Amino acid sequence: MSASADPDPAAATGTDDVQLTDPDLLADPYTGFGRLRETAPVARARNLDGSPMWVVTRHDEVRAVLDDPRFANNPLSVPGIDSDKRAELLVNMGLSEEYVPYIADTVLDSDPPDHTRLRKLVSRAFTVRRVSGLRPRVEQITADLLDALPGHVGDDGSVDLIEHFAYPLPITVICEMVGVPEADRPLWRRWGAELVRMQEPDRMRSALVEMVEHIRAMIAQRREAPGDDLLDALIAVREEDGDRLTEKELITMVLTLVIAGHETTANLIGNGTAALLTHPDQLERLREDPELAPRAVHELMRWCGPILGTRPRWATEDIDLGGQRIPQGEPVMAMIVGANRDPERFDDPDRLDITRTYETRGEQHTGFGHGMHYCLGAALARQEGEVAFTRLFERYPGLGLAAAEDELEWIPRPGLRALRRLPLRLG
Ligand code: HEM
Repeated sequence: MSASADPDPAAATGTDDVQLTDPDLLADPYTGFGRLRETAPVARARNLDGSPMWVVTRHDEVRAVLDDPRFANNPLSVPGIDSDKRAELLVNMGLSEEYVPYIADTVLDSDPPDHTRLRKLVSRAFTVRRVSGLRPRVEQITADLLDALPGHVGDDGSVDLIEHFAYPLPITVICEMVGVPEADRPLWRRWGAELVRMQEPDRMRSALVEMVEHIRAMIAQRREAPGDDLLDALIAVREEDGDRLTEKELITMVLTLVIAGHETTANLIGNGTAALLTHPDQLERLREDPELAPRAVHELMRWCGPILGTRPRWATEDIDLGGQRIPQGEPVMAMIVGANRDPERFDDPDRLDITRTYETRGEQHTGFGHGMHYCLGAALARQEGEVAFTRLFERYPGLGLAAAEDELEWIPRPGLRALRRLPLRLG
């Protein structure tokens, strides 16, 4: 059944328009979006500039949106939206203006046929073999960071896991994968941190400019003397018809991997560690049986994954969804946080249970998205999570929270579930 767009949002949804920056909603997104899933599964919301948007919270509709080609990732696919309008829309969605020229055309921001081409080219370089071949290095990087933790213990006897483990691990792994020389890695760590710090546009802009130049120089050097890492593979990648990535696409792709793979994985590690420490029975099971690690990572992705909602999807025509009519040109947020706690899909969804069974890709949960934009780095992120959780608790058996659970501070950012700090005692 469908209804046409109602000018009165309260009448349309039974609720006031959702404001994604609402502090109450962000303080406890599971309760807030859970309530919405019950009362208004396809709800009207307001964008930062007050323009209309939609929020879907049920597993079925989240997947329906992500499966439906009429919902586009690139606003240019909507009739009547041009590049200027797109830049304005992206800024309104919270993307800093500085980013637009570089990352408006990433694989995640494109639709077929561009998406098909970009995804195919990058998939050829981002192979299962390359990811599993990285495991010994992920182990080594993890071991080195864990060894260094005692050196970061502060005067109060605690160490911040976010700063000294959760963030450095994925950025170092990306450097390793892309082939950034050891000497340049501190720079990448700094740029990585500044790129994801949305609140500080000046630092973000300079990090972006420096990083683009650095990647450009790396590409020039590889063309002279090729190696065998991901950057070389991306440069060399070709399809039968000779299609390849342009230099701008190459730079954009490397930036995408840094941005998409860095903060997400870091917060999986942060959120997951906090969850295990506050659920000692689950931690005990993992300790007793480390073979549970792959399942545990899927369950942590479902229960406390870092992404609350996907990128907006733009209606390329009027679309009926869950009893609402989404007008052409309006954006829809598919809320992973709602889908992953949907009682229609998961038994006792609010319970953390690391023995739940998942298919290999964990397709039942939507923590890595769904459909054609399903996370390209999921296998890498899962591998990092498995190594991080297993080794952290193995190396520090007496690890404990250095703050009460309700003192942990969550960053109130729409779209992201992230701790500001995770103070721990090494035991
Ligand atoms: C796409 C989550 C790690 C690269 C996505 C999407 C989600 C996601 C939800 C789909 C977004 C949408 O449809 O709007 C995560 C989480 C991660 C993680 C939770 C860590 C726990 C990584 C890593 C990399 C990566 C490590 C690469 C180094 C990508 C790329 C896409 C993507 C390139 C776009 C794919 C496409 O558009 O076809 N990720 N990701 N991600 N992710 Fe991840």
